[in-house]
Amino acid sequence: GSIDEMRERIRFRGTNRRLPSCIIIGVRKCGTRALLEFMNMHPKVQAAHGEVHFFDSERYAYGLEWYRKRMPYSFPGQVTVEKSPAYFITDGVPERVRAMNNATRLIVVVRDPVDRAVSDYAQIHANRLAKGKPHATFEAYAVNDYGEVNTSYKAIRIGVYHRHLQRWLDVFPRTQMHVVDGDRLVVDPASELTRIEAFLGLEPLIHADNFYFNATKGFFCLRHDATERCLTDTKGRKHPAINPRVLQKLEDYYRPFNLKFYEQVGRDFNWR
Ligand code: A3P
Repeated sequence: GSIDEMRERIRFRGTNRRLPSCIIIGVRKCGTRALLEFMNMHPKVQAAHGEVHFFDSERYAYGLEWYRKRMPYSFPGQVTVEKSPAYFITDGVPERVRAMNNATRLIVVVRDPVDRAVSDYAQIHANRLAKGKPHATFEAYAVNDYGEVNTSYKAIRIGVYHRHLQRWLDVFPRTQMHVVDGDRLVVDPASELTRIEAFLGLEPLIHADNFYFNATKGFFCLRHDATERCLTDTKGRKHPAINPRVLQKLEDYYRPFNLKFYEQVGRDFNWR
């Protein structure tokens, strides 16, 4: 947005670019952009633009000083936040984040992995269509000719949350990690933001009146600093209708993994 661009150009006295003390590590298509934009309304939060993809790519070799320069200007005491959803699923990232700062606070947003897989498919499908490239149906990717779940399909693998989370819990204490319910973030964003403020030790300032429901978009949009703004059209896409038998297969596939995940995080998300 233009206010954010202005903030980049006008550097207030006493501000500096600082390494993030909080990172939204994932999960892709679970509401990571909404979460970052909502958190950024808080006066003690400064969010990085875009996705920096530092810890999960060749950019890691550029070093922490390169990373710091990608961060927004902040006052001492403000929380710098970055989000790169690929961190959640990439081997070695937990260790790299710990090497930067073992006190880094981590936020993970999740939703029903079946919905997440369809959302992921819908995004890739839209991108391929825009480039005039062919793309098969969701069903063709998600199950094989015998109707078995294609566990190597990336959109399926990402949803095995407990497997990915375990790599983080091997490196960071559970208390340094906060799990956001992506479905509640959609229907009641203020309540999930209050939990985040508590997790980060911030004054609870974000309230229900910072959100208004946009019936056309079908999602909450944000309101602060006399600004009213919705996320872009790439967030909150229409999903294709999926064959119910394929959906059932996926639900059965994820069920035991979901139970393991609830146990890991100590919260039951009641997915199907
Ligand atoms: P869909 O597009 O499938 O509905 P991410 O930012 O991690 O890619 O996640 C995108 C998802 O954020 C969207 O998936 C949507 O469900 C969710 N979301 C949560 N709150 C939203 C909001 N206020 N506006 C738009 N999308 C929101």
